[in-house]
Amino acid sequence: MDTAPLIALEHLAEGGFAEVEANLDGDAESLVLYRDGEAVRAWLNVCPHAGRRLDWAPGQFLKSTDGWLVCAAHGASFELQGGECLAGPCRGESLRAVAVEVRDGAVWLKRAASL
Ligand code: FES
Repeated sequence: MDTAPLIALEHLAEGGFAEVEANLDGDAESLVLYRDGEAVRAWLNVCPHAGRRLDWAPGQFLKSTDGWLVCAAHGASFELQGGECLAGPCRGESLRAVAVEVRDGAVWLKRAASL
């Protein structure tokens, strides 16, 4: 169960990205968070092209003038609603979404429905 938020919402700039580590099913995974107004979306920080991290340095993500997230390795470009690659070597593939929610001024992993 999550006992700590991933990040305070105030530390995530509007239209900006952040990198956080989260425990997913017992594994520490790097996530990219993207803030869109009061909403936040999250994906694994793993590019579907060659499995590299998307950031060029921890927490440093590239955003194109079209407003797409650009993988620092070979330039795959992802739209920021569904995380689909629209240009580059993995066009048509998508980032793996991670369910998060904004609560009490912070971003949390969304609790999975109990099994
Ligand atoms: S690993 Fe992202 S474009 Fe190649």
